Amino acid sequence: MLAGKHIILGITGGIAAYKSVMLLRLLIKKGAEVQVIITPSGKEFITPVTLSALSGKPVISEFFTANTGEWHSHVDLGLWADAMVIAPATACTIAKMACGVADNMLVTSYLSAKAPVFVAPAMDLDMMAHPSTKRNLETLRSYGNHIIEPASGELASHLVGKGRMEEPENIVKVLEDFFCTAKPLAGKKMLITAGPTYERIDPVRFIGNFSTGKMGYAIADAAARMGAEVTLVSGPVSIAPEERSVNVVKVESAREMCDACTERFQDTDIAIMCAAVADYAPAHTYSTKIKREKDEVPVITLVKNPDIAATLGRQKHPGQILVGFALETDHEEANAKLKLDSKNLDMIVLNSLRDPQAGFGTDTNKITIITAKGSAMDFPVKSKTEVAKDILHAIVDL
Ligand code: C5P
Repeated sequence: MLAGKHIILGITGGIAAYKSVMLLRLLIKKGAEVQVIITPSGKEFITPVTLSALSGKPVISEFFTANTGEWHSHVDLGLWADAMVIAPATACTIAKMACGVADNMLVTSYLSAKAPVFVAPAMDLDMMAHPSTKRNLETLRSYGNHIIEPASGELASHLVGKGRMEEPENIVKVLEDFFCTAKPLAGKKMLITAGPTYERIDPVRFIGNFSTGKMGYAIADAAARMGAEVTLVSGPVSIAPEERSVNVVKVESAREMCDACTERFQDTDIAIMCAAVADYAPAHTYSTKIKREKDEVPVITLVKNPDIAATLGRQKHPGQILVGFALETDHEEANAKLKLDSKNLDMIVLNSLRDPQAGFGTDTNKITIITAKGSAMDFPVKSKTEVAKDILHAIVDL
């Protein structure tokens, strides 16, 4: 599983650095190519000579090699890596990672890394339990990093509690599990729309809707985890994808979303139209705020927005898959089938607003997947993360 994988092993200044030697040996034994980056204080605990002898590569610690002036490119390293493992991760490095304090080669490379990042904290129990450490770990988690929780036991201070770096064998297992997860969408380019669109009336007002983008973002994350190269064209939302590889293109209006999608569609294998696109936009956007008049009520004339799914449906060529959503309040299945045909979709995901656990803002959804070939499949209420997987598996089956 790890054979041929490029792994950056980041080592920071904690007693548990001695365990990193064993971790390095195990990774090399599994056939991985390992580049060690050690922080300046990490070198107080373990010598670069040991690490370079085991990895077969010079250990990187500084931005430059002192005697030659050779620059170590954190950007190239970030792109080279299939995974980055920071073990041990001290409270200090975790805090720097959470805040983006790039004052050493390790944190700088972390900020440039496109690959998944695994963090194995190691510290004294009180440091581990401190609210700032907890919050920093939560922040790292929210950025999509994988935290390998420390174990409880006797610590270097002889105190007993949570803070022992996970054993090297178990860290290797976490990596193996990660890489062995099936990647059925590897090599596929995906375009996903998400969130609402805002149609400007004047500089402070718009026509919008209640979409939060949760479903589209969950699909983008799940698709990236299944190996796809994902572009997420998103209307205004307050969430971010968990997977760092997801390329987010932010737009505001339906017209901007349509342009962003048509520009990219030719180069797309699978497009999923999950956005709640406004059907109409004001015919005119005022450049200054509309004033409240005493007697007159302003009239806003609307014009039709482009139907993005239908536009892509007309451009679709054989081999491309186009998936739409239908949010219906009545005659759900019949309406969904009509949309499937009229927009030239290959599949439509139906969710009904009648269901209290489906629709805007909820963390759950209940869907029926209808394909152009005529099959219809009902799913029970599930979390949006699980629903995303169901939708993607149905696409893989197509
Ligand atoms: O026709 P209706 O809006 O119900 O269709 C919903 C589907 O069409 C969704 O997949 C939605 O993302 C897409 N859509 C679109 N552009 C529009 C309206 C809807 O892509 N202007």
